[in-house]
Amino acid sequence: MALHQTYNATDIHQIWKDAYHPGGAQASFDDQVYDWMFHTVQLPAGKWIDSGCGTGDLCFRLWSHGCQVLGVDISAKAIEAARSNAARHPECAAQVRFEQSSLEDLSPAVQGEHVHCRGVFMHIPDWSKALANLATRVKPNGYFVVFESNATSVEGFIVRLMRPFRKNRSELKKTPAGWEFWSEYQGAPFLVRMFHLDAIEKEMEKAGLHLVKQRSLFVVDPLRVPAAIRPLMARINHLWFNMNLPFASGVIQIYQRKA
Ligand SMILES: C[S@@+](CC[C@H](N)C(=O)[O-])C[C@H]1O[C@@H](n2cnc3c(N)ncnc32)[C@H](O)[C@@H]1O
Repeated sequence: MALHQTYNATDIHQIWKDAYHPGGAQASFDDQVYDWMFHTVQLPAGKWIDSGCGTGDLCFRLWSHGCQVLGVDISAKAIEAARSNAARHPECAAQVRFEQSSLEDLSPAVQGEHVHCRGVFMHIPDWSKALANLATRVKPNGYFVVFESNATSVEGFIVRLMRPFRKNRSELKKTPAGWEFWSEYQGAPFLVRMFHLDAIEKEMEKAGLHLVKQRSLFVVDPLRVPAAIRPLMARINHLWFNMNLPFASGVIQIYQRKA
């Protein structure tokens, strides 16, 4: 079941863009995260697929590290917004392209050498199929970078603690891969999953990809806090990343297909 209707809602992508790509402190934090990936871990430039690219902000970020990027998203609305963002960056038009496709039923037009997937598997009911499809695109020596939500986190603990006091509670399903919180967004089903991270590692191993690096990204998802305190939260999250502190709710995993 791919949630096409949910992601074609008009405002959902803008809400995410405002929370995750507001510029300012969050942008400086992301500058450092991607510098770490491309300079310290030394991920190669090359042909990257940004899977679940939304409005394309991270495609441009990957491009700024020398990559050719194919942004892929289930949502026609997101792809339309990404293309109009790209029109404002004519300097990268030849190296950044977009394709509409669900990850569960991945278009053969989606090809590359490496995969980047940030904050996406958590929203996909059949995430292991999406992962397996994307893994087939990773070339020998290629990388698959995943940013995902971690159930064993301070945020996960607080979310569970607060559930009994919430009025409009989502439905919680405990699965071997993690906790699934099901709710509705404008009448369509909406899923957020907090992963048991070893479930992702297991599926990657099945697909021939091995974990080479794992690092904390943030302690609290910016979307969880009011917009006014997001700049402060970005600084706290930045510190969490710099110190690689435990129990982060956002975690970066880097996998490689050995030649
Ligand atoms: C939280 S947003 C993240 C966007 C982007 N990766 C970022 O970090 O800015 C999740 C994105 O995943 C996309 N998505 C959700 N389910 C998908 C699926 N089954 N196939 C492809 N894209 C999907 C949504 O449309 C949305 O753009």
